[in-house]
Amino acid sequence: MRLLLFFLLFFSLRPAFGADQPALPPERTLTIHQIVGDPTNHKFYAITSNYGALTSSDGGRSWQTASRGLRSFTHHALAITSTEPPRLYLGAWGGGIYRSLDRGGHWTEMNEGLGNTAVDALVIDPRDPGATDTLYLAASTHFYRTAPDGRWTLYEDGLPPFPEDIKFKSLLLLPGPPKTVWYGNSQGLFSRPVDGARWSEEPRFHEVRVSALAYDAKNRRLWVGTLGKGLFVRDDQNPAWRPLAGPTGLWINAIVIDPSHPATVYLGTRGQGIYKSTDGGTAWAPANHGLEEMDIRSLALDSSNPALLLAGTTSQGFFRSTNGGDEWTQVPLLPALSMDQIIAMLGIDSTGPTGAAAKNAPAVPPAFAKCNRCHGWTDPALNQKHTYWRMPPNRRDWKPTVDRMAQRAGLTPAEQSAITEFLTAYSQHDAGSGP
Ligand code: HEC
Repeated sequence: MRLLLFFLLFFSLRPAFGADQPALPPERTLTIHQIVGDPTNHKFYAITSNYGALTSSDGGRSWQTASRGLRSFTHHALAITSTEPPRLYLGAWGGGIYRSLDRGGHWTEMNEGLGNTAVDALVIDPRDPGATDTLYLAASTHFYRTAPDGRWTLYEDGLPPFPEDIKFKSLLLLPGPPKTVWYGNSQGLFSRPVDGARWSEEPRFHEVRVSALAYDAKNRRLWVGTLGKGLFVRDDQNPAWRPLAGPTGLWINAIVIDPSHPATVYLGTRGQGIYKSTDGGTAWAPANHGLEEMDIRSLALDSSNPALLLAGTTSQGFFRSTNGGDEWTQVPLLPALSMDQIIAMLGIDSTGPTGAAAKNAPAVPPAFAKCNRCHGWTDPALNQKHTYWRMPPNRRDWKPTVDRMAQRAGLTPAEQSAITEFLTAYSQHDAGSGP
């Protein structure tokens, strides 16, 4: 999926490379990675591959962009607290982590010290008002948690090393006791009590691609969805995994449980649309009437009106149902954006190498152009190609990342160390990071 996305981005941006005033080809596709509801005021938020962050105040009928302060446009992870007002955290794929305290009105970067900014999954352990929330984060090559002082720290003891192509990351925090983080990926399923020293693997899922997790708080039941290997549940009282019968071979991308009536469960699948059960998972029926795309990435339900569902697809944006999935209607696609509109929307200073961000900055080594081949940078001085898939030059240890990217970029050893040195110095200079 990640690879596909990468090619999608790469090829859709290709015509823009090198041009002075690049314009994206009019794109009429919209990929919705995640949708979350605001439990306090019926708002919905969504993140996309090619339209930044979006918000809706009318139950998903219409969507507005909510990207102010973001310096990247492709996002894979979104989480919200159920506090009033809610705190929103967004994981950009390459752009790192952002927080919004005003319902998506503005975002602030939180990437100081984060050693990998390609975020795939994110979960919040909310703290008391005034204190820092604890975030758990699965990035492309590492797992992190925020320390009580807000610093990012590695949190991966007991996890197998991440292979390059690790995919399908899903995260959930179970209330416990003990409060436990659950983490599914293409290698299996892992859990760790938040105060525990190590992750442990669930042997039942060894080498199974765990693609979706959900928790039914009423029955204290954890649901696990896989790619092609079935659907499982386990109760807090009874830790044995129970496979559920039902449609075989589904690639499950999302599981949504109706909180007020937890026998009602929806599955969003890759290629097979949506399935619904009203008896806790014994019988399943397709709920696809009106769905024009069967690749479902994300699914959300309005907790105060559980008949209202929103489905996010791979290319056709949102579909909406007001009757528990009996009938779906497509939400009209948003107009295509030009690169200039995207840059304006992100509020990025696009003045290039002479812009404000370049002040006091060390000189960009010529080989750095190779680091612009596939993606750009949030600082305009470094963003030699106007891509919207951007990396923040944040303060961190740059060596592991540059070492990892060196092969992709075709760097000589000398270029590799020059770029490591450059990024280290650049991330420390005055105007180097922060919006
Ligand atoms: C051939 C394409 C390609 C080139 C060239 C490339 N990258 Fe990447 N980069 C990727 C992809 C794909 C990802 C996302 C997946 C991942 O993290 O591996 C990524 C992710 C990143 C990230 C976020 C993840 C992390 O480890 O923090 C950073 C930072 C980054 N690249 C820096 C660089 C630098 C520096 C260079 C030049 C030395 C470079 N890239 C060259 C494709 C490329």
